[in-house]
Amino acid sequence: MKTIDVLATGKLMPLVMEQLEANFTLHHLPAEGRDAFLAEVGPRIRGVAMGGHAKVDGAFMGKLPKLEIVANFGVGYDSVDAKWAGEHKIVVTNTPDVLTEEVADTALGLLLMTARDLSRSERYLRAGLWEKQGPFPLSTSTLRDKTVGILALGRIGKAIATRCEAFGLKIVYHGRSPQKDVPYRYYASLVEMAKDVDILISVAPGGPDTFHIVDAEVLRALGPAGILVNIGRGSVVDEGALISALQNKVIHSAGLDVFEHEPHVPSELMAMDHVVLLPHVGSGSVHTRRLMGQLMVDNLTSWFAGKGPLTPVSETPWPR
Ligand code: 8YV
Repeated sequence: MKTIDVLATGKLMPLVMEQLEANFTLHHLPAEGRDAFLAEVGPRIRGVAMGGHAKVDGAFMGKLPKLEIVANFGVGYDSVDAKWAGEHKIVVTNTPDVLTEEVADTALGLLLMTARDLSRSERYLRAGLWEKQGPFPLSTSTLRDKTVGILALGRIGKAIATRCEAFGLKIVYHGRSPQKDVPYRYYASLVEMAKDVDILISVAPGGPDTFHIVDAEVLRALGPAGILVNIGRGSVVDEGALISALQNKVIHSAGLDVFEHEPHVPSELMAMDHVVLLPHVGSGSVHTRRLMGQLMVDNLTSWFAGKGPLTPVSETPWPR
């Protein structure tokens, strides 16, 4: 396979880099001078290994005429135009399942931190205020007797729901269609669901279909005691509308692991003490990232060994 040229679009984990270097001729997309680089190396590239925040759209893939496969690092693949790839017989793979439980754990941690004001309470202790000023103020929010609405009940959404059930929370969900064999109430309308729940957890993937679906109207429906948790993609939430909703107490709080323009986090959010902000760490344990990295490598090696992709995305018609 050493004769096969693979392009890394950004920084790769050592585990991934070592295997790709051992198996393929690995190229790295430079930060500058990309056009000249692609003009020279592009015609040889047969595989892309995703790293960093690079956008792999039709214009990019069009510069790689021999491209057969794009292996995405992560379950969400909104930075790859998988539809365009599918139409041009290019396989796209992602890394489902191996991160499900980790991301669900993070979602619950984020929910608890937000509902019980735990980040602020830790900052209070570390600032020495417990000793100086006495007990931290009681949290005005709680998980007791609450209903959670899950936006996108996929694998991760279901793992979150299972955890929420164990916490005694009532679960409902919204998605494109109702699912069989799911014990939770389905809402065809996101706004209607937001009206009925106390907590909205978004696990929805990015991309044009979900862009800003959590908008000012949904936040108004969630209401002044409502909490928004976003563990899916930043683009799903209208960040401007969220900032305004938080500033004007249209909703109570938010716990965010993802943002519209990562790694940029708006200063308005940074300035809010009661909001919990995490730097996209949903799947970020060594254990899980290694499994994700290995699955990305395995997809490439399986493909180039003629055994097909292991985890093709839904836009990739497979088997052909
Ligand atoms: C990844 C994620 O770590 O899998 C996803 O979709 O959002 C994260 O868990 C991220 O995509 C890696 O860049």
